[in-house]
Amino acid sequence: MNMENKELVLSGMRPTGALHLGNYFGALENWVNLQDKYDCLFFVADWHALTTGYEDTSELKANIENMIIDWVSAGLDPERSIFFLQSSILEHAELHLLFSMITPLSWLFRCPTYKDQIAQMKDKSITTYGFLGYPCLQAADILIYKAKYVPVGEDQLPHLELSREIARRFNYIYGNVFPEPQPLLTKARVLPGIDGRKMSKSYNNTILLSDSPGVVQKKVSMMITDPERIRKDDPGHPEVCTVFAFHKVFNEEKVCEVEEQCKKAKIGCVQCKNNLAGKMVEYLSPIYEKRQKLASNSSLVKDIIREGNRKAVEIAGETMEEVRRAMKIDWMNEKL
Ligand code: TRP
Ligand code: SF4
Repeated sequence: MNMENKELVLSGMRPTGALHLGNYFGALENWVNLQDKYDCLFFVADWHALTTGYEDTSELKANIENMIIDWVSAGLDPERSIFFLQSSILEHAELHLLFSMITPLSWLFRCPTYKDQIAQMKDKSITTYGFLGYPCLQAADILIYKAKYVPVGEDQLPHLELSREIARRFNYIYGNVFPEPQPLLTKARVLPGIDGRKMSKSYNNTILLSDSPGVVQKKVSMMITDPERIRKDDPGHPEVCTVFAFHKVFNEEKVCEVEEQCKKAKIGCVQCKNNLAGKMVEYLSPIYEKRQKLASNSSLVKDIIREGNRKAVEIAGETMEEVRRAMKIDWMNEKL
């Protein structure tokens, strides 16, 4: 295995569609950097995608492939990290089942993500067994690799807390098997969507990692600017402008200059957007080009997952043997 026995980091994403810049700066950029310091496992949480999207599975396969392509083109490195597909490692399902035996329903019902989602998704029936057990499956994902750190967004903290509680309960009943995983919260760079609201697929305001330079340019030209700046000689308010929020991320070294030019009405919004688009294309085109290469070689993605699955199942299999032994349910493995 190419793992170097550094501390283990694990994280997963649900394959729910093409990744956008919010996902990139919110999570992926951080994952890319973690590879320097840790042994990393990154997986596609396709079973978790089913908890809410069990009816229409028609796009799942394409989403899984595209997610791997997004990851690799953004700098996750299959030579250094292990990428795998959750549903390929059946051991996750076994551990989830065993955890379901010891997890009190009250822990799951009181989970804030459960309550929020049930309230939000009124049009879809997710009052299911699988959705309630979402955090229990997530605990299995994490604990089966005995991961030390889990990089997640703040919204996922309750799930991680539950993973720790399940680990403690298992250890208390059956003896010490699982270390308690810690969250890795890093400062995410926040980008609004092109309309100034939070960047989100459901608002239709995203810029995708897979957008071509032409599309990026077009989306920048559509960005909402300071509404009070009607003519070019009106002084602007960069702090309320979406374009400026992007300058802060993509044009860090010139951000003071942009601010001053805007406030003093020395630059027009069209020019300001063109400057931004240039910077963004400079940053994003290597990612875009890498994607083109990967997408033209369809067996590559499969090879990456196959190789990662092979390594993941080795670790997961060892943990499961330990689990069955600790629970004394390894009867059939005993030499007769
Ligand atoms: N629930 C996570 C999310 O929606 C995805 C996920 C599933 C995950 N299993 C995980 C993240 C294990 C970290 C570790 O983002
Ligand atoms: Fe926004 Fe730039 Fe126009 Fe100022 S000049 S309002 S920062 S687009």
